[in-house]
Amino acid sequence: MLWVKAFHLIFVISWFAGLFYLPRIFVNQAMATQPAEIERLGLMTRKLYRFMTPIAGLALIFGIWTWAYYDFYLGPGWVWMHIKLTLVAFLIAYHAWCGKIYRDFAAGKNTRSHVWYRVFNEIPVLVLMAVVILVIVKPF
Ligand code: HEM
Repeated sequence: MLWVKAFHLIFVISWFAGLFYLPRIFVNQAMATQPAEIERLGLMTRKLYRFMTPIAGLALIFGIWTWAYYDFYLGPGWVWMHIKLTLVAFLIAYHAWCGKIYRDFAAGKNTRSHVWYRVFNEIPVLVLMAVVILVIVKPF
């Protein structure tokens, strides 16, 4: 069980490296003016997104596997898990949204400013803080 939980955390951390860095590249893309720079940043987002997606899948698989050791328990004292799973669903939607954004940039269809992406970039930070506090402190 501890091995499975360890790999759950390894893949969660790796996934978050991408969730923090990809929107940061969007900030640079939204400010880029030179064609060579636009091309290079577009290549970076495509490669990063394609790398992040299977990592996210592994984080989720190992999370579900860890939960299986608890017989998928969701009863009394596990309200934190209900909230965590809701936040995980939100994180998956955020990941998919990043996929749409990188494809929009590739098609030259971005309409948002770099300031918008700076705010967007902070969302996974807040989700990570909430999930770690829920899982470690288990306040509910
Ligand atoms: C399908 C999605 C997921 C499921 C079913 C899941 C399930 C679990 C379970 C059952 C545990 C063990 C809890 C315990 O021993 O008290 C755990 C640990 C943990 N999970 Fe997840 N998880 C998922 C996704 C995530 C995500 C996306 C994050 C980060 C945002 C995350 C962060 C953590 C952390 C930090 C721990 C460590 C808790 C400890 O040290 O005991 N999990 N997960």
